Amino acid sequence: MSLKYGGDYNPEQWPEEVWVEDVRLMHEAGVNFVTVGVFSWALLEPSEGQFEFGWLDRALDLLHENGISVDLGTGTASPPPWLSSNYPEILPMDRAGTTLWPGARQHYCPSSPIYRERASILAGKVAERYANHPAVIMWHINNEYGCHVHECFCDESAVAFRTWLREKYGSIDAVNDAWTTNFWSQRYTSFEQILPPRVTPVFENPSQRLDFKRFSSAELFACFMAEKVAVRRFSEDLPVTTNFIGVFRHVDYWKWVSELDVISDDSYPDPLDPDAAMGAAMSRDLMRSLGGGKPWLLMEQATGYVNWRHVNGTKPGTMMQALSMQAVARGADGINFFQWRQSRGGAEKFHSGMIPHSGTRSRIWQNVVQLGADLTKLDLLEGWSVNAEVAFVLDWESWWASEGDGHQIQLNFHDNLLEWYRPFYEANIAVDFVSPGADLSGYKLVVAAHLYLYTDATAALLGAYVKAGGTLLATYFTGHVDGNDQARLDGYLGTLQDVLGLSIDDFSALAATGTRSSIAVTSERWGILECSEWSEYLRLRGANVHARFSGTDLDGMPAITSHAHGRGTAWYIATRPNRAGIARVVVEIASSAGVVPVVSGLPLGVEAVNRGAALFLINQSDRDVEIPLDGFDVLSNQQRFRPTLGAYASLVLANATEGDRRLAASLAEVAAR
Ligand code: GAL
Repeated sequence: MSLKYGGDYNPEQWPEEVWVEDVRLMHEAGVNFVTVGVFSWALLEPSEGQFEFGWLDRALDLLHENGISVDLGTGTASPPPWLSSNYPEILPMDRAGTTLWPGARQHYCPSSPIYRERASILAGKVAERYANHPAVIMWHINNEYGCHVHECFCDESAVAFRTWLREKYGSIDAVNDAWTTNFWSQRYTSFEQILPPRVTPVFENPSQRLDFKRFSSAELFACFMAEKVAVRRFSEDLPVTTNFIGVFRHVDYWKWVSELDVISDDSYPDPLDPDAAMGAAMSRDLMRSLGGGKPWLLMEQATGYVNWRHVNGTKPGTMMQALSMQAVARGADGINFFQWRQSRGGAEKFHSGMIPHSGTRSRIWQNVVQLGADLTKLDLLEGWSVNAEVAFVLDWESWWASEGDGHQIQLNFHDNLLEWYRPFYEANIAVDFVSPGADLSGYKLVVAAHLYLYTDATAALLGAYVKAGGTLLATYFTGHVDGNDQARLDGYLGTLQDVLGLSIDDFSALAATGTRSSIAVTSERWGILECSEWSEYLRLRGANVHARFSGTDLDGMPAITSHAHGRGTAWYIATRPNRAGIARVVVEIASSAGVVPVVSGLPLGVEAVNRGAALFLINQSDRDVEIPLDGFDVLSNQQRFRPTLGAYASLVLANATEGDRRLAASLAEVAAR
């Protein structure tokens, strides 16, 4: 078995003579897996009901003859011109009522019955023709659902939204109750009056908005399922995937994963962002977690620059390899790119590829070849897993609701989440993500960061986890509302009040900038912590105080607390300490829960991850670092003694600090072959 290596291959962009050169170069780079046909609808079905597979037959045969496996796209991500001109009602509409016209891609309304029908027909035709093709080992349904159009506000969406609401609530009165429509005279007397939350004069109804997010995510899932069902009519066994987009706001991936055989991810960290590697690590951890720990695929990344930011920096030196090693370390069994050959024309011609415009003399190509060779040394890792003792609860519904209008602050959930993830990343402590209903019993520490919305059932699970001996860390902006985005009365938090040993009397938001933008928190354990964004008037109900606000009318009031509940402990942080402060507090809470880093004492910028018996040490910085460890490095195939690791270089040590020594020994053996 080997790790998968390759990328999106779009032979239709090139004359067939080039294909022969393509497969030769694929061999040179160690490519063994390509994704084909993702955007091929216009060629596969040039007019309604007329299918042409000749070119794809030839491409797949050529790949097979050359031993390259295929993840075959259903081709449905970009409707062809005939479809939108025959059925203009498939076109999506934005909140302001503007139609999104053809000329780019993903110009379909997810609720459009015609789009779903035509996409399913094509998916079925592709599956029927290629289910037994020896090159095809996986189905790739559509592409990045919701990437550009995650919500549609057209009349067809309105009809579908009403159907969804009828199913959820049963009666219009139940909708009115859930949405608090007696406020601002919004009471409905029939489902027909309900619209998608189009542009309004001022704040829209937050519960309606939340339901529309739930609905929109579910509609994208329904599109996926329609295609999957069509594929399964002809192919019962081949694994099915669709490519996710990391920690992506708009789609509740927990609701999809049971229908995916392989979790795959597209990942485009910004090389100019100093936190690029950390953000990528968080996505990788999420992908592993979505699959319950099983290996996943990095389906797309860039070799260098992308073309869709305002400024598109390239990946310097071997940053591309470092980010690839990070994915393998965090559970990926394959590394792939968008795309094999950089396009000559079209919107993405200045998006990097494995073969760049400058050809095979380029540094990009050398990097690609080097990575292919490195990955073959890691074949034995396939299937090995990462073991995390810390779990972050990630709930998309809470994310959506927390960022709605009408709050004391404009919470940026993603960026805040990253700030709570940062100390774990920097201390090399492995983290999983879990859904709100997940079994938490295997974790020593569970973090509920800004879990603004939860149901009573989720609160009960968190409470039971603590009672049984777990450690919970909850941050401000947690437990304010129930599943309908209605405030929890009498001190917020619901039953977590008993678990945390406190209730919330009042909020006190801090200014985004300027004099009232920070507050000091003092603590015997952690000294003075500079804090921002938020503060609170807490009322203690048994919790111990570890740090107190200093100054303003909050002076002396609790800011960081812990509470013994059953056999466990529940911590609460009522403000946002600066980075150094968060690190001090969080790492100490983690260590009080018995959580230990993979390796301590590494220079900042070096990631350490144990995958099975292999210890990955990845220098994500642009300078040389000293590694205070010895071991056999599988990549360089030699024993290393306190090695210096160059910028963006990696070591994969077979003498992992813990783990299965027998596997470690065979890893070293494979490397020595
Ligand atoms: C992804 C997409 C690819 C390509 C890539 C460019 O979102 O799936 O088709 O457009 O971005 O970065």
